[in-house]
Amino acid sequence: MRKKFVFVLILICSVSFAFGQNREKIDINEGWRFFRYENNPDSLIYDERPAVFDKNDVKDADTRATLQNHGNASNKSLKMYILPTANEFIKDKNKHYERPDGNPGKDFPFVKNDFNDSDWQYIDLPHDWAIDKPFYTEENAIVGGGMGRLPVQGVAWYRRKIDIPKSDSGKEIYLDIDGAMSYAMVWLNGNLVGGWPYGYNSFRLNLTPFVNFEGDNQLAIRLDNPTNSSRWYPGAGIYRNVWLVKTSPVHVAHWGTFIKAENISEKSATITISIDIDNNSTKNQDVEILTDIYRLDNDLKISGNKVATFPKQNIVIEAREKSKIRNTVNIKNPLLWGVYPQQEQNMYLAINRLFINNKLIDTYETRFGIRDIKFDAEKGLLINGEKIRIQGVNQHHDLGALGAAFNLRAAERQLEMLRELGCNAIRLAHNPPAPELLELTDRMGFLVIDEIFDCWEKGKNPLDFHLIFPDWYEADIRAFIRRDKNHPSIIAWSFGNEVGEQYTDEPGAAVAWKLAALVKDEDSTRPTTASMNFAKPDMPFPQTMDIISLNYQGEGIRDAAAYSHLKGIRTPPLYPAFHQKFPDKMIVSSETASALSSRGTYFFPVFAGNSAPVSEGSGGNDALRQVSAYELYTSPFGSSADKVFAMQDNHPFVAGEFVWTGWDHLGEPTPYYSSRSSYCGIIDLAGFKKDRFYLYQSRWRPELPTVHILPHWNWESRTGQITPVHIFTSGDEAELFLNGKSLGKKKKDKFEYRLRWDSVVYEPGILKAVAYKDGKQWAIHEVKTTGIPVKIALSADRNVIDADGKDISFVTVRILDSDGNLVPNADNKIWFEISGTGEIVATDNGNPADMISFASKERSAFGGLALVIMRGKKGKKGEMKLTARSERLDSGSVIISSR
Ligand code: GAL
Repeated sequence: MRKKFVFVLILICSVSFAFGQNREKIDINEGWRFFRYENNPDSLIYDERPAVFDKNDVKDADTRATLQNHGNASNKSLKMYILPTANEFIKDKNKHYERPDGNPGKDFPFVKNDFNDSDWQYIDLPHDWAIDKPFYTEENAIVGGGMGRLPVQGVAWYRRKIDIPKSDSGKEIYLDIDGAMSYAMVWLNGNLVGGWPYGYNSFRLNLTPFVNFEGDNQLAIRLDNPTNSSRWYPGAGIYRNVWLVKTSPVHVAHWGTFIKAENISEKSATITISIDIDNNSTKNQDVEILTDIYRLDNDLKISGNKVATFPKQNIVIEAREKSKIRNTVNIKNPLLWGVYPQQEQNMYLAINRLFINNKLIDTYETRFGIRDIKFDAEKGLLINGEKIRIQGVNQHHDLGALGAAFNLRAAERQLEMLRELGCNAIRLAHNPPAPELLELTDRMGFLVIDEIFDCWEKGKNPLDFHLIFPDWYEADIRAFIRRDKNHPSIIAWSFGNEVGEQYTDEPGAAVAWKLAALVKDEDSTRPTTASMNFAKPDMPFPQTMDIISLNYQGEGIRDAAAYSHLKGIRTPPLYPAFHQKFPDKMIVSSETASALSSRGTYFFPVFAGNSAPVSEGSGGNDALRQVSAYELYTSPFGSSADKVFAMQDNHPFVAGEFVWTGWDHLGEPTPYYSSRSSYCGIIDLAGFKKDRFYLYQSRWRPELPTVHILPHWNWESRTGQITPVHIFTSGDEAELFLNGKSLGKKKKDKFEYRLRWDSVVYEPGILKAVAYKDGKQWAIHEVKTTGIPVKIALSADRNVIDADGKDISFVTVRILDSDGNLVPNADNKIWFEISGTGEIVATDNGNPADMISFASKERSAFGGLALVIMRGKKGKKGEMKLTARSERLDSGSVIISSR
């Protein structure tokens, strides 16, 4: 391979996107046919799976992972045909897989062009086949609470014709799948092309050898989603976007650019780009590369003239080879990317243009941002020189009642509410997200820890990723980083969460070192990490990472008195010990709290201390499957927010925390596995704020005047009984009044984060809190005993949406008394009806124990609230009217325009 110019260069960050001359990226999400079956439908299996004996998924999340794959490879499986898809991501060519002869599946009807699929379901992608189905409610259900009690299991096929006109002949044709759950295998025109087992990674298949440029082209995709394969709801189906990409034979490779920034000052920054170019043609090619940089506005559109041009480069790439080139340029007065709200989110775009004989043959675009990040063991995180405390949350990939099917607006809404909370960072627990999520975090100024695995060789569930880890870890890690490495919002790569290898000393650490090395090999600019709930400072495991990520260990696990009877991991607060052992490494809590609650639900008596595990009678109610929202109760290994805050404030070197979790997620309904969704969110599954929202907001946005009273004050049957009142405020003291009578003024002590009046005797009326800061009145909150429910009020988060069949509006349903007060314990059943240009996609109420299907147009209010998700029909402009009715209540309605 000859290189005419080689520029050795330096470093920034971002995402690749690709349009332009000679390259097309075509959305093929519409118009698929879908068919699913549950039992042993065909023999086209990826590999044989071990039999599952222990189906019980009710176990503490911090149970030690011990399952091992004893190798079940069968020569009846298609694995050897799928593994070559990984070759692009396996560095050592000697380890590349060779595809065996033959074309498995060619006789199976579903892969054939002439198979009649007209009676299959017609669907558009992204698609989650399970989310709108009834929940399994029986004991020992085939899919238990962990995986969300929805029918995610089984084999499904997706078929679609793709349009490849004759004029495309000579081009390369690729299929890009952003995510398919799981074990995807793809046929084109009856030929097995390849596939990708891990459902969370994006992948590309080269369709070119199988394309019929003279006529019909039929795609057939088989997915196979095992039961007992996840600790949470994985979703099911092709649940992210799918694209057809057409390029010339010489083109910028898949995820082929990496942009880095160095020497960043107000005056300039050195930008280095490395570009991988594929020459899939049969001759050597002399390629000229031009690259310009533009500024992007907040909608990611080019704004103004180009700001820099890299020196022109030429390179000769041999036939059927790849080449990498590097190039450097200085940008004057760079506008930096930073975190919201302290900093701006400036973004740039690099456009590569490739020429052969002066003819433009490829255009490739990469978004990036320029930022300087330091990870300091004493000061924490410094972004562009400014100390930024990590006020983060963990987020799962599902979008509540919409399931795993990616929807941009739903993801944006989640982030908007987290922003309102004061959250500035997200840990993607425990898998790579849809690519569009990272465009949102870039634009909205969230910091991201991007994470790939929940287990390695040692499995947590009988059929989880550990079965394929040995074959796929390298490809999955490299693919994960290559796709996302240009996003400025990503600050670190996490290669594991609470893995079983923490327990095995050197052998476990050896696996970690191997994975960390792969991460570094793909991206040396960002630190590596893996979250630890068991590994201790003196063990070999924490040595393997750049950032020390602690799950629960920083604040101590099962160490408080209320937890002393519990079995399992028990540690004192380990921040000091880790800090001492790793004086040069930044420490962050990658999971804290795992506090649990059901919005608007309160049980008595209330725990007198500040953190306790949920149990029957102490925060929990087994019959109702609800957890008290006094926000003192936790999973067996968790700690209340109050305890976490105190430990963080006692150890100022800690860079901050990622709360477990921001939003409730589907599945993992600790502690009630007969429920459908989690209790750990600060925000419930429907997007309604739990009381805890105000506890975090008071801490994370201290400048915002807030005071929040709990519980609600509708306790008819408690008149004369002790009913504690707690207050969250960003002020430093507050006075509480009941029916105008002062119950005293209280001031927060050091390491105290709530004010509590634990001996209030209930009488109906008005509770009022007046908060003070520095002696001055700061904020007021009133809670009233309401009248009975009399009417329904509807309000949409957006009254105008796009008529593109994707955009959605979230309608909040409130049950009100005659004075217009929200009735906080109303649970009226509501019927929804829609007319006009829209449809109801789903309904919810945020109640983890509500087992009515999300597709239902009837929903009971929970804590006085319910949610309806509305969508405009594609291409239908006009108005849609949603009406909500209930027995004995005045109905409510709302009008939304689609345009
Ligand atoms: C942690 C785990 C998370 C989640 C959480 C529940 O141990 O890393 O994935 O299971 O517990 O509280």
